[in-house]
Amino acid sequence: MSKNILSLENIEKSFGKVRSLRGVDFKVDQGEVVGLVGENGAGKSTLIKIISGLFPPDRGRILWEGREVSIGSVKKARELGIETVHQHRLTVDTLEVSDNIFLGREIKKSFGPFKFIDRAAQRRRAAELMEELGLDQNPGRLVSRCSGAEKQGLEVARALQFNARLLILDESTVGLNIEGIKQLRRFTNKVTSGGVGCIFITHDFRYILDLAHRFVFMSQGRIVAELPNKDIDVKKLEEFIININLQS
Ligand SMILES: Nc1ncnc2c1ncn2[C@@H]1O[C@H](COP(=O)(O)OP(=O)(O)OP(=O)(O)O)[C@@H](O)[C@H]1O
Ligand SMILES: [Mg+2]
Repeated sequence: MSKNILSLENIEKSFGKVRSLRGVDFKVDQGEVVGLVGENGAGKSTLIKIISGLFPPDRGRILWEGREVSIGSVKKARELGIETVHQHRLTVDTLEVSDNIFLGREIKKSFGPFKFIDRAAQRRRAAELMEELGLDQNPGRLVSRCSGAEKQGLEVARALQFNARLLILDESTVGLNIEGIKQLRRFTNKVTSGGVGCIFITHDFRYILDLAHRFVFMSQGRIVAELPNKDIDVKKLEEFIININLQS
């Protein structure tokens, strides 16, 4: 049996009168790909933002490898090994590609008592990463000159750079072309077979049909169903999702 990485218990979150999460229990094990599915506004991104330290839950417990933690900040989430590609991009257009990848976690070199950002090393590492991901990108290029798909690829590259224990992809296929999606799937497969856990959110579950070990369905701030991947096909999933939406 795989070891548990993350467990959420009874998580609640409201924004004013909107109850975005109404008592969510959710877990991810080592090497597991969890497909998180649900209609617009179901609460998927809110759940992800809590796990990535963007804001705390109003109520509930978060356990990381069995120990209760308060994630509190993006920095803390990253220290735990949680790397997230958010639905709405966080790239900085005025910086170059490699600077974006290392933003806040720059490679430094010393010169006497001083420390400088080692841009050449960052560009080298960024180029390697781009190659691994099959992205045809110049690390020295300004982000403002990249296409939507390239920016998305850049976010994925950033998430993969830092030895994640848990990789979260929130609608990361949006803006990618078919080749990019294939690369993302291959990479997800590669890192998860090495033990990294993954939460994969996508509106088009065909992309994760053979990738996710388990599907978790959210609706109106709740988890309404969970299905293991075995015996699932597109038709069954579509019927299942329609039924859930009709009931809610
Ligand atoms: N910062 C915020 N302030 C106010 N309301 C918010 C905020 N973030 C989310 N919400 C509300 O919480 C609910 C859940 O939103 P969330 O973005 O988590 O849904 P989602 O499942 O990710 O949807 P989508 O599939 O469209 O990305 C929605 O009603 C949304 O309007
Ligand atoms: Mg969302």
